[in-house]
Amino acid sequence: MKPYYITTAIDYTNAPPHIGHAYEKVLADAMARFQRLNGREVYFLTGVDQHGQKVQKKAAEVGLSSEDFVGSITPHFIALWDKLNVRYDGWAATTDPMHKRVVQTMLQKLHDCGQLYKKAYTGFYSVRQEQFLTDKERGPDGNFGEEWGEVQELEEENWYFRLSDHVEWLKGYIKSHPDFIFPEHRASSVLNALEGTPQDLCISRPIERLSWGIPLPFDERFVNYVWFDALTNYISFAGYLADECGNKGLPDFSTLWPSEAHVIGKDILVPAHAVYWPIMLHALGFSDEQIPRLIVHGWWNVKGAKMSKSLGNVIDPNVLAGTFTPDGLRYYLMRDIATGYDADFSDERIIMSYNKELAGGLGNLLNRSINMAQKYRAGVLTPGSYDDAENATLRQTVTDALPAYIESMSTWGIHDGIAAAWKIVTAANAYVDSTKPFSLAKDPEQAARLDSVLYHLAEAWVHLSVLLNPIMPTAMATARAQIGWELPEGFQLKDLHWGMLKDGHQLGTPVPLFPRLEIAAAE
Ligand code: ME8
Ligand code: MG
Repeated sequence: MKPYYITTAIDYTNAPPHIGHAYEKVLADAMARFQRLNGREVYFLTGVDQHGQKVQKKAAEVGLSSEDFVGSITPHFIALWDKLNVRYDGWAATTDPMHKRVVQTMLQKLHDCGQLYKKAYTGFYSVRQEQFLTDKERGPDGNFGEEWGEVQELEEENWYFRLSDHVEWLKGYIKSHPDFIFPEHRASSVLNALEGTPQDLCISRPIERLSWGIPLPFDERFVNYVWFDALTNYISFAGYLADECGNKGLPDFSTLWPSEAHVIGKDILVPAHAVYWPIMLHALGFSDEQIPRLIVHGWWNVKGAKMSKSLGNVIDPNVLAGTFTPDGLRYYLMRDIATGYDADFSDERIIMSYNKELAGGLGNLLNRSINMAQKYRAGVLTPGSYDDAENATLRQTVTDALPAYIESMSTWGIHDGIAAAWKIVTAANAYVDSTKPFSLAKDPEQAARLDSVLYHLAEAWVHLSVLLNPIMPTAMATARAQIGWELPEGFQLKDLHWGMLKDGHQLGTPVPLFPRLEIAAAE
């Protein structure tokens, strides 16, 4: 079976990463870890989108060369992914010479088969969005809205890609492949965008206007339009045309492609990922079976508003990881949004998720389970033969959680996967309250029952430490160390069953996993 090839959008290196960037990477990382645990080999690619006018402009503003500018920003992204334990297999930086060779070879191929042509065009150009505007982009008052930033009238010769030749194919492809876009309902916005007269795509910028890009191999007075360059990362770093380009050390393309998941935000679905990208691949001769799948996530807003530097409401993931720990942030980002929909970031919610759910629910369960076993049995578990209905119910809850979790996680319902695991947390905490181990400990006749209770609690936590591992890998490893149980090399979800802990198992020392934080939400 091919590895599960997952990629995320490559981030623009003209901004420090914000919580939306962090969400996307953690989402992909949680899925990659889940797939591995579920028995799939995984290849996870992410990186940075370094070319284009926005970067060139920003570099000029801060008085650096474009190259030095991206060199100074990229480490901020890498450091954040390290801190958040985002574990990728490939790093796609579009200034990499290997990538440039693939982009140029692709352009040459499209040129050679007549897919590119040159023409002069006069029109309105948005510097911020790096695109020519059409009447469709005008607001009801006839003007171009603020979202386009500065708009200039330009006359320019450029190279065009015959996108319009392939629009009918794309419409048919979308209609016959409901799996192409997740969630499915987003496909209608793509089909809407394909209504009307199809336009070709300008794929060049004159070098006088934009020098920070990949030169067209057949016309050096132009560099490649940044989206064409950026989208290509998904195949260039997967080994596409590696032999032809002399690229070494990349994966074998035929074993990876097509990607099962390009994880992107909703803003870059139309036209980039759902129109340009499949058409680029189709024009290069990729078959319908070779078109990758798009996983389109929603956005994190703040108090209902879009995050923006001008509103001053940009949420910094580094600060949050400092306060709530990297795993506390990962948990919040995965539990408080449904994949495909928007969510609202709030201090109240992240504090609640940490203090109530992680400290009060999950962490407290671990701490009291190990504490009691240490206090009453020196941390040694002896399941014994005692059993009753309460034990049976808890065991059932634990074993039922696994299929529900797998079902949700496999279909990008990460928050539902967490909820499936959380049924164990809730049931096990209620089980402590009803079995009252501290009372059982006082009555020698209840010794066998106490043994069984302590065993059930520790075993329930073993299951939690596996199911929640994709979400909170560091905290779950810490918890396993306290339980004294390691994830065996190559362990898979199918190996998880009741009875992971053996008779005589020695538990470790309890240390609060998520110490409660004394903080109040800011106004
Ligand atoms: O779009 N909430 O880069 P980018 C959730 N370089 N996700 C968000 C978000 C938010 N508030 N804001 C942004 C680019 N994102 C291009 C991609 S891919 C070939 C080139 C997501 O840094 C956004 O939707 O603006 C995108 O998927 C990713 O962050 C990078 O955004
Ligand atoms: Mg963007």
